[in-house]
Amino acid sequence: MLSLPETGGRQLGEPLPNSLRDAAEALTQPELRALQRERLAWTLRHAYANVPHYRAAFDAAGIRPEDFHDLPDLARFPFTTKADLRANYPFGMFAVPQSDVARIHASSGTTGKPTVVGYTKRDIETWAGLVARSILAAGGRPGMKVHIAYGYGLFTGGLGAHYGVEAAGCTAIPVSGGMTERQVQLITDFRPEIIMVTPSYMLALLEEFRRQGIDPRGTSLRIGIFGAEPWTEAMRQEIEQAFGIHAVDIYGLSEVMGPGVANECVETKDGPHIWEDHFYPEIIDPETGAVLPDGSPGELVFTSLSKEAMPVIRYRTRDLTRLLPGTARPGFRRMEKVTGRSDDMIILRGVNLFPSQVEEQILRVRGLAPHYQLILTRKGPLDSMTVAVEAEPGIIGEEREACARELAHHIKAVIGVSTTIELRDPGAIERSTGKARRVIDRRAPAEG
Ligand code: DLL
Repeated sequence: MLSLPETGGRQLGEPLPNSLRDAAEALTQPELRALQRERLAWTLRHAYANVPHYRAAFDAAGIRPEDFHDLPDLARFPFTTKADLRANYPFGMFAVPQSDVARIHASSGTTGKPTVVGYTKRDIETWAGLVARSILAAGGRPGMKVHIAYGYGLFTGGLGAHYGVEAAGCTAIPVSGGMTERQVQLITDFRPEIIMVTPSYMLALLEEFRRQGIDPRGTSLRIGIFGAEPWTEAMRQEIEQAFGIHAVDIYGLSEVMGPGVANECVETKDGPHIWEDHFYPEIIDPETGAVLPDGSPGELVFTSLSKEAMPVIRYRTRDLTRLLPGTARPGFRRMEKVTGRSDDMIILRGVNLFPSQVEEQILRVRGLAPHYQLILTRKGPLDSMTVAVEAEPGIIGEEREACARELAHHIKAVIGVSTTIELRDPGAIERSTGKARRVIDRRAPAEG
């Protein structure tokens, strides 16, 4: 039985017994590096031979798969970006005949065409195995029931989680996102031990439990596996205490596979371990593209090591993090929890900030609910930011004003920018059923 986090202090989950670890989790670092070398050489050959984009990009850079001898040689190969995937829409990045593609997913993309990704049958099996490894790392055990509230469809969240749940020997409850009232009913009736959902939608479920007069700490849930969007340590504590569960971070992106590229271990909760037997990570300086040593902050770049249908070479994720030594799985490196993407960075009168930094400050103020949006406007040459945030029910009048003052003070003191705080009534901020929309940019597009 897992121990539960207690208010004020955190008890830890139990480490995964050896009988449930897969062979790769026992590899030593030299063994893992040798495996990566071998798989990288295969991936580079496979991409060059079968994807015209990679052939052209390698040729333009004057490099061949045969020039790869050891891991540092990877830095000589060109990066791949989302723009490359868009330019080859829909199936141009596939390295196998279409008849060998067992499934297609796509990421929605707010502008322009979606990015399309494909999987062979074996890729799907690998993916399921890695999500299963992630669920076990999160404290899940065969026989547990898993409520899956990530969206099913082209998004990788729902189906990616689903196959992993089955591969872990758990029972899948494929609910998908939305119909919040029914989600609460199904959790109450089916009694799942695990929920897989975006952290922002978990907060919407929390409200619904309260609205229905059900104690959220009294449910059958023991573990939440949250990802697909940034969330802070403060949010982890908020969710753990509200539900009395372990909240564990799952990371991934469709271009590289989907959920389960990396996952946190419940016994340490210190950032996701990257499943390095299938994905080779690098951290680069986003300006120069130079590879940075482990421990340095920068942009995360991945090369797939086993993908057949759509190998990716040095894919630039735009996610900002650091590589850290492994802890609960010493063979694999960890990544620091991703709290921002370079795309989401706001530059406000010369100060760079991420929505997650504002989230941390909101969660410090008693009386504020963790539902917020950042609204950017421009008057003349100056940008301004309004933080629209909800007050907790019952917080009105004077108390609201005090909350707003306190939040403005924390943001100024910690992040260094002046903001306007707009306190909204409970429920006034749009709820997402998947990834939350944190930033509303009302600045006129730049001229020229
Ligand atoms: O969001 C895959 C996924 C589904 C991951 C369910 C976890 C759970 P995309 O839609 O392609 O794929 O979006 C990928 O989401 O580059 C990050 O910016 C962000 N992201 C994903 N997981 C996390 C996380 C899925 N744990 C993009 N923390 C990534 C922070 C995350 N950001």
